Amino acid sequence: MLQRPRRNRKSAAIRGLAEEIHLTPQHLVQPLFLVDGMKKKNAIKSLPNIFQLSIDQSLKEIEACLKVGVASFILFPAVEEKLKNKTATYSYSSKNFYLKAIKTFKKEFPEICLISDVAMDPYSSDGHDGYVENGKIMNDKTLPILAKMSLAQAEAGIDILGPSDMMDGRVGYIRQALDEAGFTETSIVSYTAKYASAFYGPFRDALDSAPKSGDKKTYQMNPANKREALLEADLDFAEGADFMMVKPASVYLDIIHVLKQQFPIPIAAYHVSGEYAMLQAAAKNGWLDYQQCLDETLLSIYRAGADVIISYGAKDFADNKKRKA
Ligand code: PBG
Repeated sequence: MLQRPRRNRKSAAIRGLAEEIHLTPQHLVQPLFLVDGMKKKNAIKSLPNIFQLSIDQSLKEIEACLKVGVASFILFPAVEEKLKNKTATYSYSSKNFYLKAIKTFKKEFPEICLISDVAMDPYSSDGHDGYVENGKIMNDKTLPILAKMSLAQAEAGIDILGPSDMMDGRVGYIRQALDEAGFTETSIVSYTAKYASAFYGPFRDALDSAPKSGDKKTYQMNPANKREALLEADLDFAEGADFMMVKPASVYLDIIHVLKQQFPIPIAAYHVSGEYAMLQAAAKNGWLDYQQCLDETLLSIYRAGADVIISYGAKDFADNKKRKA
């Protein structure tokens, strides 16, 4: 045998020399679920170790993440039912605690990167990402609402807007609204290939944001489709997206790979709530090692081509890496 691949695996030092990729915390984003009020740290049943946090508690969490090298955060609001309505007006109200949170975080920690969520569902009495009329999600009537939400977040100082709604044309619509208002430096990470996935279950528990009727299949993508992701990506690229996202991540590695090869902007991947909850549940039963399986999952997402990985395990990954170093 002239080729014996095992020779390059015979010691930790040689394995180190031959190691092809190295995932570091600078590529990771920690999601934060925000609630109004003070001193709140509410557990989320289906997301172990993840909490709904009030602004004061979030500041502590941000500090803990910064200590281990995670400097980017994606923010989601848990909104009281009584503040929700058909047109999601609370999303751009000056009273919205989410906008206050953005301002406070950037003031306390100017070095961090904040990513928002642009979609109606946390604020919508229908629990859909778009405006609902006679049971239908109305694409073009949703766009102005998304633009108002985006401008309010830009005004509050967000670094990157994250439209997660999957309405057609929203990236271009938001980009134009931003530029007209002078927010030329506000970036957009488009949820380009967001699939209609059952892995979002725990997230909807966290925000109490599940659709009140129907499902999201008329706007989120069919899990069977790969070429359609290229169409979405062409549109988002042409409309001015700065980053493109694939979501979920570990069960859509082929989509991450193809977008990375075909588009010259950074690719983000969202390791979603259900993907994280599975690891936690198996670990709780003693069936899997949480830390090792998390590390392997995030490494796989990175190897497939993701430049940015959003994961509920971001801090755990970074913390473990620091302890091992
Ligand atoms: C909704 C939104 C969802 C997630 C992020 N933004 C859920 C959905 O589309 O129903 C899911 C994230 C996760 O599961 O961790 N705009």
